[in-house]
Amino acid sequence: MAKLEEIKFPVSGQIEEFEKKFSSSMKSSVPLLNKITHYIVKRKGKQIRPLFVFLSANMHGDVSESTFSAASLIEILHTATLVHDDIVDDSNMRRGFFSLNALWKNKISVLVGDYLLSQGLLLAMENKEYDLLQIVSKATQEMSEGELLQIEKARRLDIKEEVYFEIIRKKTASLIASCCACGASSVKADEQVVQKMHKFGEMIGIAFQIKDDLLDYEKTSLIGKPKGVDIKEKKMTLPLIYVLNTVPDKERKKVIKAIKYNHDNPKKVAEIIEKVKSNGGIEYANKIMEQYRDDALKILKEFPQNKYRDSLEQLVLFTTERKK
Ligand code: IPE
Ligand code: IPE
Ligand code: MG
Ligand code: MG
Repeated sequence: MAKLEEIKFPVSGQIEEFEKKFSSSMKSSVPLLNKITHYIVKRKGKQIRPLFVFLSANMHGDVSESTFSAASLIEILHTATLVHDDIVDDSNMRRGFFSLNALWKNKISVLVGDYLLSQGLLLAMENKEYDLLQIVSKATQEMSEGELLQIEKARRLDIKEEVYFEIIRKKTASLIASCCACGASSVKADEQVVQKMHKFGEMIGIAFQIKDDLLDYEKTSLIGKPKGVDIKEKKMTLPLIYVLNTVPDKERKKVIKAIKYNHDNPKKVAEIIEKVKSNGGIEYANKIMEQYRDDALKILKEFPQNKYRDSLEQLVLFTTERKK
């Protein structure tokens, strides 16, 4: 697997320029807000979404101001949703540091998330990027729907594979699909190409979230966020759903009961994790993830080869093999 630095290489100058724009767009005249956005900018994530934008754009044409707007808008929205997600998931760690809600509590964090969201939209408005706004607003709406659907299902502890895929398509894949579509659209690619890039992004976006859910089962502390939190939050992800669907009825009821009444007990959570592992849940989820990865690669290969397409291919592989 290539390192992110290597994958970025053909667009490294553009990413650097993006980072400047991104951090300056986070500034505010309210001191508390400025302190918090400074904290966020200092602890940046992998920034794979801007990378999807720039590689998709370069693959189909010459990058423009619109490409930079798309990358900034999407990374800001992503940041806003992470701030809100950590409140919803009651998670106190993000990117290896305290989450905003751990440091400033929910009240302030909700407002910071809202501020970022509107800042992102304003950025696109200033540049009159209506196509971009159209694609990304839809994705933002789907992200909220996905998170709400997930909460609804977590309460009732009944979730079918089909619904799991609907949740992750909405909460994660829609934004990654937007990256690829907006990248292509920012260089005036044909509508058909934009649609195809959207589909590509959706496929790799689904694989991305399956991987994130698999990482929650791993021992490593590398990922920079707490592990085993999905079960603690009664979030049923693919490895668990598979095992619940395959073990005998009596076993299934026992696991569901444990999640329902003991999800706050680390020892019980560890037992459920072991059960999922020993019943093939991890292998199964890996297999499905690889199918989505291959679907994405297939779409990508329909476009002519160039160095940007090669990097995008590497980014697809990185998505499913990453350790954080
Ligand atoms: C985390 O996304 C949220 C999910 C959709 C799983 P990333 O793993 O891209 O987060 P950062 O930006 O690199 O921290
Ligand atoms: C993805 O779900 C969250 C968003 C799409 C905002 P998770 O809740 O699994 O993400 P992490 O694991 O906290 O990053
Ligand atoms: Mg979360
Ligand atoms: Mg997760």
